[in-house]
Amino acid sequence: MHQPLPIASDAEPPSSAGGVSLRERQARERAFHDRWAAEVDAAELDPIRRAFCPTTPETTFALRALGDLGGRRLLDLGCGSGETTTWFALQGATVDAIDISPGMIEVARTLARRLGVEDRITFHVAPGEALPFADATFDAVFGHDCLHHMDLDRARDEARRVLKPGCRAVFAEPLGHNPLINYFRDISPRTRTPDEVPLRFADFRRLRQGFRSLRHREFQFATLGLFLWFFAVERSDPNRVRYWKKIIVEAERYRPAFLALDWIDRAMLAVVPAAGRLCRMTVIVIER
Ligand SMILES: C[S@@+](CC[C@H](N)C(=O)[O-])C[C@H]1O[C@@H](n2cnc3c(N)ncnc32)[C@H](O)[C@@H]1O
Repeated sequence: MHQPLPIASDAEPPSSAGGVSLRERQARERAFHDRWAAEVDAAELDPIRRAFCPTTPETTFALRALGDLGGRRLLDLGCGSGETTTWFALQGATVDAIDISPGMIEVARTLARRLGVEDRITFHVAPGEALPFADATFDAVFGHDCLHHMDLDRARDEARRVLKPGCRAVFAEPLGHNPLINYFRDISPRTRTPDEVPLRFADFRRLRQGFRSLRHREFQFATLGLFLWFFAVERSDPNRVRYWKKIIVEAERYRPAFLALDWIDRAMLAVVPAAGRLCRMTVIVIER
């Protein structure tokens, strides 16, 4: 059974995305991800492979930034199909996973059951902007590719509220500075929700509000050469094929090229950290 979904009231002011109300934004996110969830087969998901996927170093870095998970209580925000949720439970954490999409929650639950960790996880259909938890509940908060779908300020405030003092939140999120990436976003509206807003460096200041510290590290600039390859050589339609998903599913095939390009990224970012703006992904670690 799905839990009732607490959503914003009509009196809510517009969410930060393009003047739509938060209620409308949440409804659109829910409908989009429910449709997507109907296409996902939980039997094909592999949380361990996903955690160490060679073509998504940002994911591995974000998971490692949480430290040892054994015996800790963790919130997986916008858990989607639940690969990270199940990974956390496999590491010995007690997990609460929330998502606005009942369809995604069902996929995540099926995956957790298949891997025998359902008893370590509580699933909630709930918005990141109004979390159904008491203050200072969690030892860690994690979000992968989800904050940019939410009202950033409200989600930040809620993450801080439910986090215990001295504990950390880790988010892996897309960045919105690179014109080439934005071009691909523009020509692939079917693979994106109308309200998602990739982060900009200015958002780091917003995210830090109310926290003790914020660190961030960027990933994936030269590696985007593979996306150009998909487009120009393989003639993959970006409006049908999610490139960021293709690179995970076909990780073994693209691994050698990716690792060479990733080496260039690491060297470039070590010398010119400001070039991080051009990257596709950032990992943000904030301490309460
Ligand atoms: C791109 S998916 C990422 C899912 C998962 N974390 C992953 O990395 O595979 C974004 C997820 O955020 C959820 N979402 C969008 N808006 C939300 C909101 N306001 N509150 C909670 N979840 C939301 C969507 O339903 C979707 O499952």
